[in-house]
Amino acid sequence: MLSALIFDKLNQQIEIEFYSANLYLQMASWCDANNFSGSAKFLLEHADEEMGHMRRIFTYINDTGSQAIIPALQQPPHQYESLLGVFEEIYKHECYVTSTINELVAVTTNANDYSTLNFLQWYVAEQHEEERLFMGIRDRIKMVSDSATGLLIIDNELETKSVAVDTAE
Ligand code: FEO
Repeated sequence: MLSALIFDKLNQQIEIEFYSANLYLQMASWCDANNFSGSAKFLLEHADEEMGHMRRIFTYINDTGSQAIIPALQQPPHQYESLLGVFEEIYKHECYVTSTINELVAVTTNANDYSTLNFLQWYVAEQHEEERLFMGIRDRIKMVSDSATGLLIIDNELETKSVAVDTAE
């Protein structure tokens, strides 16, 4: 049984993961429109992964006998200056998601909710991976700066970069 506080915080995290999926979908659309087809494919797959993150929490809440609440969704921005701008925003967003997971961990620790604390460990490890992944891509794009050839090489790399779609329930 979840406390009201932890129930609310988990539902807020559903909203954040949903928003992440929509943000990356929107960014994929920008990439496609700007001829970065590899980045578009990569971000579409990553949007699916974010839906998996959302579903894990959705299922966990319902498994405790509570009812997950689907939030109204905020519209993500749809204009970006460059491919570097897209990946800088993603890295910033993932750092924000990490901060919300850390806050959840702190709240569950204070509430002695060890089941939710255990559940959240997967997210702690996942955020470490996500930050590392996007920091790496951002830094590689920075290295090529404004070179069109360099950007196209990175875009090609992203096309083949595999993202495991997580639909675990
Ligand atoms: Fe679900 Fe990329 O954080």
